[in-house]
Amino acid sequence: MSDLSLRLSIVIPTFNESANVAELLHRLAQALGPHGWEAIFVDDDSPDATAALVRELARSDARVRCLQRIGRRGLSSACIEGMMAAAAPVIAVMDADLQHDESILPAMLKRIEEGSDVVIGSRYVDGGSTGEWNESRKSMSLLATRMSRLILKQPISDPMSGFFMLRREVLDGSVRRFSGMGFKILLDLLASVAKPLRVAEVPYQFRDRLHGQSKLDNMVIWEYGMLLADKMVGRYVPVRFLAFSFVGGLGVLVHLLVLTLALNVLKLGFTEAQATATVLAMVFNFGLNNLLTYRDRQLEGWGWLRGLFSFMLACSIGAVANIGIATYLFEHRTNWFPAALAGILVGAVWNYAITNLYTWAKK
Ligand code: GDD
Ligand code: MN
Repeated sequence: MSDLSLRLSIVIPTFNESANVAELLHRLAQALGPHGWEAIFVDDDSPDATAALVRELARSDARVRCLQRIGRRGLSSACIEGMMAAAAPVIAVMDADLQHDESILPAMLKRIEEGSDVVIGSRYVDGGSTGEWNESRKSMSLLATRMSRLILKQPISDPMSGFFMLRREVLDGSVRRFSGMGFKILLDLLASVAKPLRVAEVPYQFRDRLHGQSKLDNMVIWEYGMLLADKMVGRYVPVRFLAFSFVGGLGVLVHLLVLTLALNVLKLGFTEAQATATVLAMVFNFGLNNLLTYRDRQLEGWGWLRGLFSFMLACSIGAVANIGIATYLFEHRTNWFPAALAGILVGAVWNYAITNLYTWAKK
């Protein structure tokens, strides 16, 4: 292999990291030398114009590329698309915010070249640490790590790490089974491989963030649950449908609550009360699905209103189908309970399928 050949691609997901990218590139060159690596930034159209900044840096540095995604969010899916664009036989994923210690990259690469399939930058082996995390973030991370054993095929001390390296072949052999949901791309990978891998862990100390903010919020708990569910039951039923049904169940409660208030407090007639409850429950369901079920394709501004309209239209047709089927079954001597259940199921599947296609259409 000549000195100039490409040995390592580094995939760097970014969202509002313009204060960090130049420094990161500088540090990568210090750690890895002038040749043999490339850096692929995957930016989800950050409002702070990270993508434009990366392109500007790329004009005077052929090792740098920017993949800018429009109308999409998600750390895992960004990493996957960046990895697919990588050209080197070995791929690393690391954060842009300088919290991952780039100085261990050569040691990680050495482990791969010695035969490991995946090398993890780990905070939980000797010599590693989580840095200045508060108690609650530490215990959350430990709990999540324990839960990951439900889907892992082998014991790993830091499967939640966002800092790792792998051989191209490992990716090619598993990428079609990835869930691509949420934040935990390494866990997704480790749970998607066909056979156990040779995994090595290299310790590092998680640094503090100097510029910008963490994008981890309470929603990551939900996204983590979705990833676990997808790995456990996703083969049989799409987890988005489960989430959609869960939201629908909450919508029924909202409906009943509004109905009770409208009848007893506002003293509306039954038809007006039922209509009010239906509309409010639909708005509630749309809003919550937009926040949870379709977090990665979230609608905003006018898109939100347009989405609400198409959601209500789809669900009204779903309601007609629901009532029609339940009534048909009931009149053909089915008990009321299975008849109602069949109606609800058909309505739910219809609502899910149509709003998945139109309301939250893939870009
Ligand atoms: N493209 C893209 N899209 N990038 C994103 C998104 C997104 O939706 N959300 C975050 N990022 C980028 C950030 O810009 C940063 O470079 C990196 O992903 C990590 O995001 P942070 O917001 O800094 O996450 P963190 O520091 O709280 O969490 C990190 O450590 C955890 C524990 O190791 C991440 O590496 C997690 O994946 C990791 O589990
Ligand atoms: Mn970070």
